[in-house]
Amino acid sequence: MLSSIQSSVPRRMLVTSALPYANGPIHIGHLVEYIQTDIWVRAMRMHDHEVYYVCADDTHGTPIMLRAKFEGIKPCQLIQRVWHEHKIDFDYFGLSFDNYYSTDSDENRVLSESIFTALYNCGLIAIRDIEQAYDPAKKMFLPDRFIKGQCPRCSAKDQYGDNCEVCGSTYQTTELVKPYSVISGITPIKKTSTHYFFKLSDPRCETFLRSWIGQLAQQEATNKMREWLGEDGHKKLTDWDITRDAPYFGFEIPGAPGKYFYVWLDAPVGYYASFKNLCDRRGLNFDEWVRPGSTTEQYHFIGKDILYFHTLFWPAMLKFSGYRTPTNVFAHGFLTIDGKKMSKSRGTFINANSYITAGLDPEWLRYYFATKLNSTMGDIDLNLDDFQARVNSDLLGKYVNIASRTAAFLVKRFNACVLDSAMNHPLLIQLRDAIPKIETYYEGREYGRALRQVMVLADAINIYVDEAKPWMQAKDPNNTVALHETCSISLEGFRLLTLALKPVLPRLAKAVETFLSIESLKWADVTVPLSSMRPIRPYQNLMCRIEPKQIDALLFANRQYN
Ligand code: MSP
Ligand code: ZN
Repeated sequence: MLSSIQSSVPRRMLVTSALPYANGPIHIGHLVEYIQTDIWVRAMRMHDHEVYYVCADDTHGTPIMLRAKFEGIKPCQLIQRVWHEHKIDFDYFGLSFDNYYSTDSDENRVLSESIFTALYNCGLIAIRDIEQAYDPAKKMFLPDRFIKGQCPRCSAKDQYGDNCEVCGSTYQTTELVKPYSVISGITPIKKTSTHYFFKLSDPRCETFLRSWIGQLAQQEATNKMREWLGEDGHKKLTDWDITRDAPYFGFEIPGAPGKYFYVWLDAPVGYYASFKNLCDRRGLNFDEWVRPGSTTEQYHFIGKDILYFHTLFWPAMLKFSGYRTPTNVFAHGFLTIDGKKMSKSRGTFINANSYITAGLDPEWLRYYFATKLNSTMGDIDLNLDDFQARVNSDLLGKYVNIASRTAAFLVKRFNACVLDSAMNHPLLIQLRDAIPKIETYYEGREYGRALRQVMVLADAINIYVDEAKPWMQAKDPNNTVALHETCSISLEGFRLLTLALKPVLPRLAKAVETFLSIESLKWADVTVPLSSMRPIRPYQNLMCRIEPKQIDALLFANRQYN
């Protein structure tokens, strides 16, 4: 079980986000996940826990192989280029990976092979012949999404193998009328091939998974697992086909020429490969983290669409190949735009790169997503008007405003030094008392709650300043001490708000640390007030408002892609 929040005991945590596919750009939906994880990781680091955040590009599989072919380059050239593109996007949004690696690495090959071999040796790999759709022109087996045909219910043409976009019905690929290969256009034939399966149906897997369920943090995830484990008495876990035939871009299965690991076998192993690479570079002991009985914690942030892979296959693979199992898997919902799925035709499939090209501040988006994020799998919605209004009103109107209202007086009239005796004002005590609760909201992935609480505190400081009226105090020579007190309290309040916002707004927090002449803020600094020994620096603009023309620029930049 998750240990409760004990900031005094240093914890050791390995944290991952799902690995994005290397055949396309990062979009704003992906960013929900990377921003969610990054905020959590930063909040944990502020406790002085030992935290490693690793990720990688997910580079294998048929779509990547075909994409490279389409571009007339080798898969390894494609994945190298895309890695750089992804890295630029991630850096812009301030994602603090300790390692951003690739699943097409030696570490991943070695780990994937050894996990497979261990599963084989304990009798959890079955070998069976299966019949599959095959494209005789291209000489390749066809994954379901590469077969189209007429809907068996309404006869609509060009429908995918699993559901009809016209009438909404779902069916088996074999039911498609007049099926054709998306790659060559000809009718697929049936062909037999030998495949390896991970025997999830083995009672050992079921027994293990039934007990592992108990540690999942999300009720929705537990319910899904129960359904998959067949608690309703109908379903049962089925074996998982981990083989793909050549031509394929991936790792060849040891002892089986022409057979490759299915991308979803080596993708989660990619978490460990990325971490292994980091361990080797930093001199960390990999085994200490990944072997059974390890006292370290391991968390995977994912989208709800890939829960199955992370709560069934991955823990079972680890368990039976001699590794520790995840401490928890945290799934989030999907990003919708104006309440609808992101769509190229509506122009709402917004790429990270469009946001960069339009020159929007990455912390605006980090903040906006954070206000919407919670610990459930509910979808979250982006509405650009709301985005603009929320950021301008909270970050500019409430938060940054506090510093800009009083810093100049402190610098001009008081040598930039706070009044130490003002640091225990009841308002500041109230703020300090509120911070531990905010810390626990972050740990519980209740970012929306954390930020609502921060804005309540910002309101309290603004009301205090409004009532003290420093601009009036400044005009009255008898009020010098009162003015000094007002400015000192509001700036110490500003420091505390910055502390509470730091996981979400790391760059802004850094600028504030420079402005206030303080060390890099950690949670423990809640009780270390500003001091007259360290004069602040002159106030410089910390953040700009979002202007409507910037939203237009974003939509314009994005149109270039669609
Ligand atoms: N490559 C796999 C993951 C392998 S992990 C061992 C994959 N890649 S992905 O590029 O399709 O998605 C990466 C992550 O982004 C997933 O967790 C997915 O749920 C998330 N998202 C993709 N689109 C999203 C939204 N529109 N909204 C929120 N998250 C989204 O799956
Ligand atoms: Zn139909």
